Amino acid sequence: MTSIPQARHVVTEIPGPRSLELHARRAAAVSAGVSSGLPIYVERAGGGILVDADGNALIDFGSGIAVTTVGNAAPRVVARVQEQVADFTHTCFMVTPYEEYVAVCEALNERTPGAYEKRSALFNSGAEAVENAIKIARHATGRQAIIAFDHAYHGRTNLTMALTAKNMPYKHRFGPFAGEIYRVPMAYPYRWPTGPEHCAEEAFETFASIMHTQVGEENTAAVIIEPIQGEGGFVVPPPGWLANVANWCQSNGILLIADEIQTGFCRTGDWFACEHEHVVPDLITTAKGIAGGMPLAGVTGRADVMDAPHAGGLGGTYGGNPVACAAALGAIETMAAENLPQRARDIEARFVPRLQALASKYPEIGDIRGRGAMIAIELVTDGGTKTPNPGLTSEINKACHQAGLVTLTAGTYGNVLRFLPPLSIGDDLIREGLDILEDAFATTR
Ligand SMILES: Cc1ncc(COP(=O)(O)O)c(C=O)c1O
Repeated sequence: MTSIPQARHVVTEIPGPRSLELHARRAAAVSAGVSSGLPIYVERAGGGILVDADGNALIDFGSGIAVTTVGNAAPRVVARVQEQVADFTHTCFMVTPYEEYVAVCEALNERTPGAYEKRSALFNSGAEAVENAIKIARHATGRQAIIAFDHAYHGRTNLTMALTAKNMPYKHRFGPFAGEIYRVPMAYPYRWPTGPEHCAEEAFETFASIMHTQVGEENTAAVIIEPIQGEGGFVVPPPGWLANVANWCQSNGILLIADEIQTGFCRTGDWFACEHEHVVPDLITTAKGIAGGMPLAGVTGRADVMDAPHAGGLGGTYGGNPVACAAALGAIETMAAENLPQRARDIEARFVPRLQALASKYPEIGDIRGRGAMIAIELVTDGGTKTPNPGLTSEINKACHQAGLVTLTAGTYGNVLRFLPPLSIGDDLIREGLDILEDAFATTR
């Protein structure tokens, strides 16, 4: 358990004077291209609370974008990291290896969907994992085309920018982008033109048709998909659609890469979101929740695919750093010992009825969606036209911040409020956070 009192406590304006001071210092030192959604400067965090430099204690509905799934400074993570950091901090796995890296790969191979023989490789960030999954898929298939979806987010490096759909802020003026990336429509039930009931079938038909007429199945190495889209606005595809895509990939010798960087490691109520749809990808990318906040990412997949690249073709100086691996072992142990998939489902059961009650009062809440502790509301000007309402989204987000609740926005149109609490948050804080959200609607709208 964290020693931080699990109570919201707002003692200054948000951000307070000390945070404002640090923010001014930052402006003179940090690139303006790196921005912060809520510039309170954090000093301590744990359970469901972030404590800032002014002594404000805020409720955390963000987990540092789905990272501190086991909680911030979670005890098993801290213990393993402390031990490891005192033993050794780096040797480079490509020079002189160590057991922790192997143990994390074993855990990934065991926990990810698919009963087949697997291998894993470790990297530093989600984007780096995605880049490597694409490298591996191209090498293993001898093909080049990669298929990504509308509203997708896969990172900010050059190749992953090409895979990411949204221009502002991710791609604007950062081109040219990597080649041989093709985009197809996402099965987005709320915004499917002929209605959600036709989404699964029509989205699959459109996908298969574009693939055949514009790309060519035999040219395609892989289809990459987030089983529930993250930055795109927590888009949950309709049941059966992902399985259809997976079967289609299999019959065409195309690899399916599940990007579970945001959805993975218990976030959606299963260890991995693919499990809910009984889909087994060929490759899976992980990061974020894997190591309780330490930078670590992985690519896991079929042994024949993962072993295809020549020796030395994959790697990096820091990939699978021993301290990050120790943290991952502590985080994975916590997830199993505390049955965190179940906790994510409990959190969903606490959020959804409250959000439904709110939606029955405010027609601007057009859609409630997500799974486990990955829940969002999409805001529109009214339920009839479904016109995105980024203005209201931003105002409500700010009102939550002012009241001491950390919330995040998302979505291609900037009109989605998303909730990603750490799974270590208590029910009282969830209730209080949802009260704050309710007040924010009452006062803002
Ligand atoms: C689905 C998905 N893929 C890739 C990434 C990129 O991860 P990173 O920011 O660690 O590079 C993210 C980050 O938000 C993500 O949500």
